[in-house]
Amino acid sequence: MNVAAIAETRTATKAAPFVSVRDIHAYYGQSYIVQGVSFEIEEGEIVALLGRNGAGKTSTLRTIARAVDPELKSGEIWLGGQPIHKCRDYQAATAGIQIVQEDRRIIPGLTVEENLQLAQISKPRGWPIERIYDHFPRLAERRHQEGVTLSGGEQQMLAVARALAREVKLLLLDEPYEGLAPVIVREIEGIVRQIKELGITTIIVEQNAIAALELADRALILDMGQIVFDGTAAAVLENEELRNEYLAI
Ligand SMILES: Nc1ncnc2c1ncn2[C@@H]1O[C@H](COP(=O)(O)OP(=O)(O)OP(=O)(O)O)[C@@H](O)[C@H]1O
Ligand SMILES: [Mg+2]
Repeated sequence: MNVAAIAETRTATKAAPFVSVRDIHAYYGQSYIVQGVSFEIEEGEIVALLGRNGAGKTSTLRTIARAVDPELKSGEIWLGGQPIHKCRDYQAATAGIQIVQEDRRIIPGLTVEENLQLAQISKPRGWPIERIYDHFPRLAERRHQEGVTLSGGEQQMLAVARALAREVKLLLLDEPYEGLAPVIVREIEGIVRQIKELGITTIIVEQNAIAALELADRALILDMGQIVFDGTAAAVLENEELRNEYLAI
């Protein structure tokens, strides 16, 4: 390859962001909820997706994960050059999009370890279970306990751990701190920091905007199904008007 060709390849690489969401529109039946959302994320970035109750944060995450509802009617979602908008939910998961939903979805009747093993039935696998236990010692101690009998914080850890048991390229966290005591929030934050250090790209939705902004490189603010701000986390913290209007902080 000559110099010009190498330069061109570099430009092409730089021009293609790791995650690209392009003008997505999604509906629950007739209800038009995600109304033309676009953004890009570089590999390894943590992005906080913020906004008032009902702004469309969960719907946006679910659309990206290609959940059955809301239904994506138009727009494109790209991950590392793969067209995710053409996928069903399980294909998006195989492509590396793992969503940790607000209700955690721990499977009843299964132990902690069985919940993790179940996640590893489908390939590509992520972390081996022993590695998960190294990062989540509380789960290691409770490996034989039924998952649904864990405390709220432990269930959240299991939900994140289960996402890591699959290959994760884009981790979507919907309100991981919800209902947790500050000490547990700090523990989950520590885990998200470790995930960041490993270079995993993350979108975090949180009502606790301050905590999310402290962790995030960038912030997106949604309002009525549209992006109203896309910038650095620091810019949100400095902008009182933005905070008052959309975040109540
Ligand atoms: N299954 C559904 N069917 C119809 N409308 C829905 C459904 N789920 C959510 N909506 C509507 O979509 C809009 C966006 O909801 P969404 O859950 O995405 O908001 P959110 O930003 O996550 O809010 P919150 O902060 O309260 O979690 C709301 O008006 C909600 O009522
Ligand atoms: Mg929500």
